[in-house]
Amino acid sequence: MKKIILDVDTGIDDSLAIAYAVHSPELQLLGITTCFGNVSVEEATRNTLVVLEHLDSTVPVIPGAGKPFARNPIKKKAVHIHGEDGIGNTLTSEPNTPAQRDHAVNFMIQQVNKQPGEVTLIMVGPLTNLALALKEEPELVSRVERVVIMGGAVTVRGNVTPHAEANVYADPDAAEAVFRSGIPITLVGLDVTMKTLLPLEEVVKWREKGTKLADFLADMTEFYIGAYKSIYPSIKGCALHDPLAVAAVTDPSFVKTVPMRLSVELQATESLGHIEGIQLDGSDEEQSVDVCIEVDAERFLEHFLSRVIL
Ligand code: RIB
Ligand code: CA
Repeated sequence: MKKIILDVDTGIDDSLAIAYAVHSPELQLLGITTCFGNVSVEEATRNTLVVLEHLDSTVPVIPGAGKPFARNPIKKKAVHIHGEDGIGNTLTSEPNTPAQRDHAVNFMIQQVNKQPGEVTLIMVGPLTNLALALKEEPELVSRVERVVIMGGAVTVRGNVTPHAEANVYADPDAAEAVFRSGIPITLVGLDVTMKTLLPLEEVVKWREKGTKLADFLADMTEFYIGAYKSIYPSIKGCALHDPLAVAAVTDPSFVKTVPMRLSVELQATESLGHIEGIQLDGSDEEQSVDVCIEVDAERFLEHFLSRVIL
């Protein structure tokens, strides 16, 4: 079993990634850390706890960063995509379970130091918690097994602006610090996630399960698909951004990668968060990032559907 810390900004596709990860027997979830992004960090923490309650899971939730690494907040709450509450306006009550009284950065450092070489970080929100952790404990670079990041648009256009993907745009300085650190990274960006579409007819089938979990996830995912329909009228369904990062850990053969050196635009307002990628000959260069450029979308979707709701 792979030891995992999942870092989220829950979010509808984060919720689906949490369900997928909790239901994946290859993964041992040490904890879920939260960050601002789709919503505030308080809302991301609350939503994560609510999702875990629906999953009957007691995985610890540890709150993290509420603002970017090195500048004032840039990105607004994504109400049009994730709803007022971040989970498609499905929130009916506050969670019964509290979050841990620790901080995400501290939790990451402690867990990795306790079991060097064994912990994989799956980051599906802005990279703030990891950038802060690397600043405090640079040795993490050689002590994590790998970092799998949902973020960036290297060979395709952005989603939050034509130049930038939402997670990188929300904290470009954190992304740059993480990419430059030399930590082993697999980047699962829009290059592949926009090819992983979940169609409405599959979500409708979830309701046949007749469980609270199935209805909860179907309600929020239908909201998400509705948002996709208004933004991308030509595509059918919604992109499974964050679940694909989980899949890249459970079975790396879902994706194909190329080694690249990445740099993030930190100055120009119009192209803030844009990633410039230079392909490398081999992956032995210190700052080489394995960038996903192909995905077996059909096989991944089948795998995701077989696990998201049991
Ligand atoms: O660009 C997609 C990413 O931004 C996903 O992680 C989604 O949850 C939002 O955070
Ligand atoms: Ca996310």
